[in-house]
Amino acid sequence: MSEQIFYPNPEFAKDARIPSMEAYWELQNRAIEDYEGFWKGFADDKIDWLEPYDTILDESNAPFYKWFSNGKLNVSNQCIDRHLADKADQNAIIFEGDNGDVKHITYSQLSEHVNKMANLLKNKFGVKKGDRVVLYMPMIPEATYAMLACSRIGAIHSIVFGGFSADALRDRIEDAEAKIVITADGAFRKGKPYMLKNVVDDALESGCESIEAVLVVKRNHEEIKWVEGRDYSYNELIDAESTECPFEPMDSEDPLFLLYTSGSTGKPKGVQHSTAGYILWAQMTMEWVFDLRKDDVFWCTADIGWITGHTYIVYGPLSAGGTTVMFEGVPTYPDAGRAWKMVQEHNITQFYTAPTLIRLLHKVGEDEPEKYDLSTLRVLGTVGEPIDPPAWKWYYEAIGKSRCSIVDTYWQTETGGHVISPLPGATPIKPACATFALPGIIAEVMEEDGTPTPVGEKGFMCITRPWPSMIRTIWNDPERFKKSYFGDCKKDGEPVYFTGDGAMVDKDGYITITGRTDDVLNVSGHRIGTAEIESAIKHVSSVAVSAVVGKPHEIKGEEVFAYIVLKEEGLSADEVKAEINSVIKKEIGAIALCDEVVIVPDVPKTRSGKIMRRILRSIAKGEEITQDTSTLEDPSIVPTIEKIVNSRG
Ligand code: PRX
Repeated sequence: MSEQIFYPNPEFAKDARIPSMEAYWELQNRAIEDYEGFWKGFADDKIDWLEPYDTILDESNAPFYKWFSNGKLNVSNQCIDRHLADKADQNAIIFEGDNGDVKHITYSQLSEHVNKMANLLKNKFGVKKGDRVVLYMPMIPEATYAMLACSRIGAIHSIVFGGFSADALRDRIEDAEAKIVITADGAFRKGKPYMLKNVVDDALESGCESIEAVLVVKRNHEEIKWVEGRDYSYNELIDAESTECPFEPMDSEDPLFLLYTSGSTGKPKGVQHSTAGYILWAQMTMEWVFDLRKDDVFWCTADIGWITGHTYIVYGPLSAGGTTVMFEGVPTYPDAGRAWKMVQEHNITQFYTAPTLIRLLHKVGEDEPEKYDLSTLRVLGTVGEPIDPPAWKWYYEAIGKSRCSIVDTYWQTETGGHVISPLPGATPIKPACATFALPGIIAEVMEEDGTPTPVGEKGFMCITRPWPSMIRTIWNDPERFKKSYFGDCKKDGEPVYFTGDGAMVDKDGYITITGRTDDVLNVSGHRIGTAEIESAIKHVSSVAVSAVVGKPHEIKGEEVFAYIVLKEEGLSADEVKAEINSVIKKEIGAIALCDEVVIVPDVPKTRSGKIMRRILRSIAKGEEITQDTSTLEDPSIVPTIEKIVNSRG
């Protein structure tokens, strides 16, 4: 299976934007030979410049790179206004609610909603260029309006995924010093209402001095607490606003948004993205990787709280003038055929999801795809974690009917858009392989000193030239930005961007991502730092030491496995697990709960006190310990832990 190669469907390839590997290499060689000229060509073609830029790439203050310096543009113009001449009546968004209610929002309607919301933020709440606006929203169209309204007036949005707890929300609001929070009473999931506003209330009660107002969208109409003078109803205020709000000319390098993500310390990083470089690559990857066309209906199942939702529900599809689907519910409700029913009903042409969901739908609804007409699908995509060959095969055969290319897109919050991915009309695909760097991305698998890693061996996945949509800095922490991404690998003596992932190149030059080299987990496609979980566990009074590692999981990709040393004996693993999980739920949210908790007398440490996680990972996976344990403070702890883990049954 892994040796098999799947060629693009010739019918599809003949009209594809990049129709062959020759066309791919022609583009990539152009980038290699004239890097700045390559990017200039696309920037001039795709961006509606309000004022021209004077420098293509400014590397004078590396790694704080600047692209298209001093140019002026506006992202909501890129995504809305410039399309109105020929797409006013085309659907911009197709929204499907949990209960199946459907709303079509045309580009002209989107324009009205966004302009009104921009006016509301500006006039009522005094939101100005550069102010931070936190969104804690469900998957409803108003979330998109809010993002685009911010970009229209130059405010910087910071979306916090609705699965994060009040404490996590508070920390993100405080780090960004946000002025306003936009939320909803709640929404619906699996036929039942769930609540969000109460989480905002709790966050604000425990801090968030900078917040002046909370704007609340009514979605599920459940009763909520209301703080007079702080809370405002979007539904009551919005109609008084005008549908015309001039967009703010923004500098190419003005921040478009912040998005907090996990790193190897306990504190999340506020990844800062730029205006011009980000939107350029969002549009280009939509056109190249998904081959988006005028009449296409594109569905990305991510939540807008993650980078995938930012780039491939909102900014990519809309800047490319496409139709994007937004879904409030879950694809297994009311049954495991929901996603395929939606493909049929909305004539979806590109379907983009995470391997976790494919594995789940395969397991719980293997025969469901047969019940629906999936013939409109042209491209299938996956993102967020490595996809295993059996899931790939089911996706290819049962969903794509062996007709659609699967683009296994590798990228990160920090890269803004795809960086390594097949091109659906060009790349001969090896299943479960991200294949080649996209044109314009100079990606290399290397050793720390820049020497290329030999074929078939694991090395560091680096991007050795700055690219337009890359992270610009970590909000409030430029030193951490340098250290996190430009500290590990060098080429020709100069630091280069290291993704934090390992990768392997095969004899044909195909790149396979082998997973994180740091202590970051990927649970159901959600990125979580083990240090974050451990710092939450510190709040459990009975715990002396914790060490969290990832363990492979059939559906979730990875599960959270915690080794715990207690201060005193007496509690059972189940009791400790319940205590730990209630703290994690409060500090981070339900996405980071521990699946397995094992009580151990100690953890393996070096003589300098560093926990040897690699050994703990191997034990959790049931692997043989191949590491040298002689340097440990107490080597006998390894067989003791192995025995405890293996005896759990
Ligand atoms: O480890 C890689 C994995 O997800 C990480 C990025 O997570 P996040 O910033 O949350 O963004 C997820 C969506 C872009 C990466 O460092 N990852 C992402 N895509 C793939 C992947 N691992 C293997 N294959 C992929 N296609």
